[in-house]
Amino acid sequence: MSNNSYRVGIVGATGAVGQELIALLQAHAFPLAELRPLASARSAGKSIDFAGKKITVQEATPEAFTGLDVAFFAAGGSVTKALAPEAVKRGCLVIDKSSAFRMDAKVPLVVPEINADAIRAHQGIIASPNCSTSVALMALYPLHKAFGLKRVIFATYQSVSGTGADAVVELEQQTQAYVAKQPLTHEVYPHQIFQNLIPHIDSFGPDGYTGEETKMRLESRKILGLPDLKVTATCIRVPVVRAHSISINAEFERPVSVAAARKAIAAFEGAELVDEPEKKLYPTPLAYSRKEKCGVGRIRLDTALDNGLALWVSGDNLWKGAALNAIQTAEKMIALGIPLRA
Ligand SMILES: NC(=O)c1ccc[n+]([C@@H]2O[C@H](COP(=O)([O-])OP(=O)(O)OC[C@H]3O[C@@H](n4cnc5c(N)ncnc54)[C@H](OP(=O)(O)O)[C@@H]3O)[C@@H](O)[C@H]2O)c1
Repeated sequence: MSNNSYRVGIVGATGAVGQELIALLQAHAFPLAELRPLASARSAGKSIDFAGKKITVQEATPEAFTGLDVAFFAAGGSVTKALAPEAVKRGCLVIDKSSAFRMDAKVPLVVPEINADAIRAHQGIIASPNCSTSVALMALYPLHKAFGLKRVIFATYQSVSGTGADAVVELEQQTQAYVAKQPLTHEVYPHQIFQNLIPHIDSFGPDGYTGEETKMRLESRKILGLPDLKVTATCIRVPVVRAHSISINAEFERPVSVAAARKAIAAFEGAELVDEPEKKLYPTPLAYSRKEKCGVGRIRLDTALDNGLALWVSGDNLWKGAALNAIQTAEKMIALGIPLRA
């Protein structure tokens, strides 16, 4: 590390999240002494553009982490499991976007606006939450602070970029095939996604919930520090390219009002209040693509829960749901004076 700049690796630099990491490091003027893009052997030798320069992608091997201060991992759970311990052994801090270590008691699961203090206990690996969880919590956390969260029901509307770069191509190809009156084929999803909804994200568990639904339950509890929070989720893939939306029904300990809920959302750094239904103003995934804050609106009293609120949030799964949250975690460490090293 040079004085105030860092040698940064990106594992999965050629993927959907990796490309956003590169763009956001540049947009945030992150203090870089070096940027080292890493991916599979298939991509080694390709180049990426960064600040007007071409940088060669290297294969992510254990040795590739030598000399790095921090590596953002965005390449899937098995890659993290194999390579994160190798990075840490070489002194490189890992900020991981996969689910590999999120529920490990020794690994902090961090949304910097909510639980930045948890970072201090890291042992070389910091996990970043699932994309629907981080977007949902940008609406839920300020309401929890205001009223005390007791119970929450999530229904998600998740974009195809949440699956990765291949899924974006699949939706585009199906759209083109439909227009050209050609047969529509699918490989990434078990069903056609164009003109469809798929109530199946990640694999099914023995309780009938999908992995994504279970992640929303367990990760929300860990991040909010509410191990007994009652949570249920139904996660749906929708034919939207970018940004996830979540319908939230939440019950609180204390009495709620729409006015107090709007005030709490408006005051929270991670959210933007867009709640003027009479003017047709509410968040949409298109409006919240490539936005750092998540949009919250449609706030109303829930008619089925005591002290309940119903609301809607849209936020960029590739940004707050992934790359941005990881970069904000590193930025928060710098701001708090926590060394950006393993
Ligand atoms: N997409 C989202 O909204 C989102 C949100 C939150 C978390 N995540 C998580 O972020 C991770 C990446 O997701 P993504 O959507 O960016 O996927 P993606 O578009 O499919 O990209 C995967 C990346 O991983 C790399 N990779 C694959 N095998 C590798 C290996 N053996 N060694 C090193 N790199 C390897 C790929 O490199 P090649 O190009 O060389 O194959 C590519 O750069 C996943 O863990 C995902 O669950 C994604």
